[in-house]
Amino acid sequence: MCGIVGFTGAREAAPLLLEGLRRLEYRGYDSAGIAVTGGGTIRVEKVSGKVEKLCEKTRDGAAVPGFTGIGHTRWATHGAPTDTNAHPHLSNDGRFAVVHNGIIENYAALREELTAKGYVFQSETDTEVIVHLLEYFDTGDPKTAVMRTVARLEGSYALGVLCADRPDTLFAVREASPLILGIGVGENYFASDVTALVSYTKNAVYLDDGEFAELTPRGITVYDCSGRPVEKPVTRITWDVEAAEKGGYEHFMLKEIMEQPAAVRAALAPRIRDGEILLEGFDLSAEELGRFNRLIITACGSAYYAGCAAKYALEALCRIPVEAVLASELRYGDPLIDDRTLLIVISQSGETADTIAAMKECRARGAKTLAIVNVVGSTIAKSADWTLYTRAGPEIAVATTKGYTTQLAVLFLLALSMGRRLGRVDGDRYNALLGDLLRLPKLIQNAIDLNHGIPALAKKYHRSPSLFFIGRNTDWASALEGALKMKEISYIHAESYAAGELKHGTIALIEEGTPVIAVCCNEALEDKTISNIVEVKARGARVLAVAFRGDRKIVSQANDVIYIPRIGTLFSPVLAVIPMQLLAYYVAKENGCDIDKPKNLAKSVTVE
Ligand code: AGP
Repeated sequence: MCGIVGFTGAREAAPLLLEGLRRLEYRGYDSAGIAVTGGGTIRVEKVSGKVEKLCEKTRDGAAVPGFTGIGHTRWATHGAPTDTNAHPHLSNDGRFAVVHNGIIENYAALREELTAKGYVFQSETDTEVIVHLLEYFDTGDPKTAVMRTVARLEGSYALGVLCADRPDTLFAVREASPLILGIGVGENYFASDVTALVSYTKNAVYLDDGEFAELTPRGITVYDCSGRPVEKPVTRITWDVEAAEKGGYEHFMLKEIMEQPAAVRAALAPRIRDGEILLEGFDLSAEELGRFNRLIITACGSAYYAGCAAKYALEALCRIPVEAVLASELRYGDPLIDDRTLLIVISQSGETADTIAAMKECRARGAKTLAIVNVVGSTIAKSADWTLYTRAGPEIAVATTKGYTTQLAVLFLLALSMGRRLGRVDGDRYNALLGDLLRLPKLIQNAIDLNHGIPALAKKYHRSPSLFFIGRNTDWASALEGALKMKEISYIHAESYAAGELKHGTIALIEEGTPVIAVCCNEALEDKTISNIVEVKARGARVLAVAFRGDRKIVSQANDVIYIPRIGTLFSPVLAVIPMQLLAYYVAKENGCDIDKPKNLAKSVTVE
């Protein structure tokens, strides 16, 4: 969703802002803009469309001179993606410019109030009220104007503020929307996420909700909402620039698919020592774990599907009831939760608005929270009782791949560790399953290598108007993720069903040539899934099965088979998803889709 950058230093700001915006493009956006101070005025340039267009308009920034500035990529919420609605917004007196990520919930009332006071609105955005409030509260001290303005805002916001009278000063404000400060030498920055900072500095300060910062080339001061300075730790960013670049691949998504063996190894290996699983801080005793009588997993999208897959492993190994609930449903569901509930919150970005809200709701009801998150220092990571990082590295493609498989890896490790500590997994089973986990990186590589035929299969399937993904139990969880991958990047209608459920209605949609992707990696249930394959084939379906290498039964039943290496059922979703990621990728490529930045989607969904 929206991306924010800010720079102040001795170099020309505009080219650096444009470069920062390019690095935030993956978040999803539909317009872009920058504002730079110089000579006592603020110059704003903005366009609907891509950052490239803004680069052309500003001659790569040369047309907007000055050493301090802010930039923005906007994902439209209030008002269409037009030039006028694009950020930055300028106050009527031209003294303030603002960029904003989030939603101002009381904007309608503020707009009415400010209009009555004579302020003229140019755009339809909720953001514009902020810049007029700044002008209204301005008495010559921009810090006070920022504080007074923020006190009037309700909702979520990360703000960057520029003031014409202070050509070397920026303000950054955070409330329920990510904003990170970057500390350089003789220059300082802020950005929505570290990918925009890593090429300039590795030293970051994570703002907390209710804090704001004043940045000049000489330093950064962070304040609480009443203006008292706050000491903040400096965090070293471990991601490097290369990790956020394509490295020779045509798309980030393909690069990230190929990075999965290494990413899953980074998620698992350092947590396994001499046969012991070490889960930083979450190494609770049997007695402490025994307090939980219920596990609830909450998340959105693929992270939720990772939770659906992990439910089987957690229940099988811990023998505790587990429920996976969509965060957008849980937050308004009046859930039956108390202090004996462990809430497992899964999020790649750590900033998904619905997930944050569900987490808050459950905490308020007494649940303890364990977060499984990729982005270090993100809201979810910081607000949980315990956090396990997935260590996937930066994930740039909107469609998650390594983010998802590393979530699974950590969840399976967690299930095994908890099951063992609770005494519900004996030594032999523990050793066998730990062996499976340790083999995962190699097996993922095998799954990738086994599937060099997928580009050819994509040519067979890419024209289908509709695809069905079926499976049972763990395979159903994999099918859910397979269908989501397909629809989000190829724009082909794809639906996932528990295989046994098809005949209760959906089978009516199967006709001659309808592709059905059948996941058959749960050996105990394979015969049942094969019966469903037979049923859809009898109605004309063309079946593409995902199965273990060496599976002879499936060959005679499916039209095409894609293989993965053999592994025990519980952890098989990590491997089953690999060919489906590749299939979605190559189908989208055949269809000429914008694979890394699919239409209408954003990487980090920071609004409800
Ligand atoms: C997956 O490919 C999606 N782009 C999306 O479903 C994503 O998983 C969801 O928005 C949750 O994001 P999070 O993991 O950052 O919370």
